[in-house]
Amino acid sequence: MLGDFMYYNPTRLYFGEHALDGLREELPKYGKNIQLSYGGGSVKKNGIYDQIVEILRACGKTVIEDGGVMSNPTMEKVLEGCTLAREHHVDLILAVGGGSVCDYAKAVSVSAYCEENPWEKYYLRGEMADNPVIPVGCVLTMVGTGSEMNSGSVITNTAEDLEGGPAKLKLDSKFGERAYPKFSILNPTFTFTLPKYQMISGIFDIMSHILEQYFSGEDDNTSDYVMEGLLHSLCHSAAAAVKNPMDYEARSNIMWTATWALNKFVAMGKATDWEVHMIGQAVGAYTNATHGMTLSAVSIPYYRHILPYGLSKFKRYAQNVWNVSPDGKTDEEIADEGLACMENWMRDLGLVMNLCELGVTEDMLDGIADGTLIRRGGYKVLTREEVLEILKESMGKANV
Ligand code: NZQ
Ligand code: ZN
Repeated sequence: MLGDFMYYNPTRLYFGEHALDGLREELPKYGKNIQLSYGGGSVKKNGIYDQIVEILRACGKTVIEDGGVMSNPTMEKVLEGCTLAREHHVDLILAVGGGSVCDYAKAVSVSAYCEENPWEKYYLRGEMADNPVIPVGCVLTMVGTGSEMNSGSVITNTAEDLEGGPAKLKLDSKFGERAYPKFSILNPTFTFTLPKYQMISGIFDIMSHILEQYFSGEDDNTSDYVMEGLLHSLCHSAAAAVKNPMDYEARSNIMWTATWALNKFVAMGKATDWEVHMIGQAVGAYTNATHGMTLSAVSIPYYRHILPYGLSKFKRYAQNVWNVSPDGKTDEEIADEGLACMENWMRDLGLVMNLCELGVTEDMLDGIADGTLIRRGGYKVLTREEVLEILKESMGKANV
């Protein structure tokens, strides 16, 4: 481990089949008015909504309905949520859903009483929340983002009047310690009704979070060993969950891995990359595609591109994660074989491996490249031309 750091995570987790009991313990800590935020209706179909409303009523709370949070939530929706929160003097925002609902709730939490334009303050300037913040609690129904135990929030802004730069942006912000969920309820059975497409997208999101942190730095770092363990567990459980989506053990392991992949623990002492996410988010801004699939479509071309700059780590990845035998092979061959194993695993899982499938067309590529932020923590700082090259490769159109 190199470098100094401070690690603190204020989110209280309730995990397991009876995790919702934790809501009864938490609710007395907050005032009467609860903004109940949820997505497009899955929680009503699978009965989770009813279970929660029953608990809220039993605890004497007033429910302020806030449904219709879309996947890849927009700034427009966040501002509507802020108005609702102010009008009803909301004491707690209870997010019931996946990363989109959790991210939205955090954005409303820090923006409702923000005196400036929250998009500019948080997403363009990346400032911390320094105004009154409404507490957030999460009941997770979709696994992958890690939003349940971090302060991150990713919001899309497609407003016509975005000043300067590209017309469509999907950006993340971390509002600081005060914006972490106060508590999160993680019941693996709540994920049983997820369609396979969403389940595997979430699984790849987890893998990507781990790899974004793994592929950085040259030092001997405990986090790298932890991440290799998380990857083993993820691959093992993914196979079991695809075979039987009701496999509680597999779904619970995936849920727990997701949380640890992005609650900052494994980032300690590391530079961390995040370029796959930067490209994926820019793709998302143009297509509104499912987050994990934007990552799967660009990952292999990206990693092939940076492999020569981080050869020893890619070799380690091949051997320690994909059990590639080094016998009689050069370092490059071992590293390449690791990526080939990863690609095969991704194809077997059923992930999207081509941007065209997500609706990306040639005329979008310049805008997507402009909307891709360049991060400096990985093995290669990309140029805009390299981003374009990776995008083209991800469409199966390299050298066109
Ligand atoms: O809207 P409903 O009807 O609820 O349907 C949702 C949605 O269509 C459905 N779903 C969720 N739980 C379900 C269910 N369907 C059946 N049964 C259930 N139990 O799944 C769909 C996807 O949900 P969503 O919340 O959009 O997915 P996810 O959790 O992948 O969140 C994606 C968002 O999180 C951001 C992404 O960019 C994207 O905007 N991220 C947030 C991060 C963070 N806060 O740290 C980091 C991530 O890298 C990511 O960028
Ligand atoms: Zn992600």
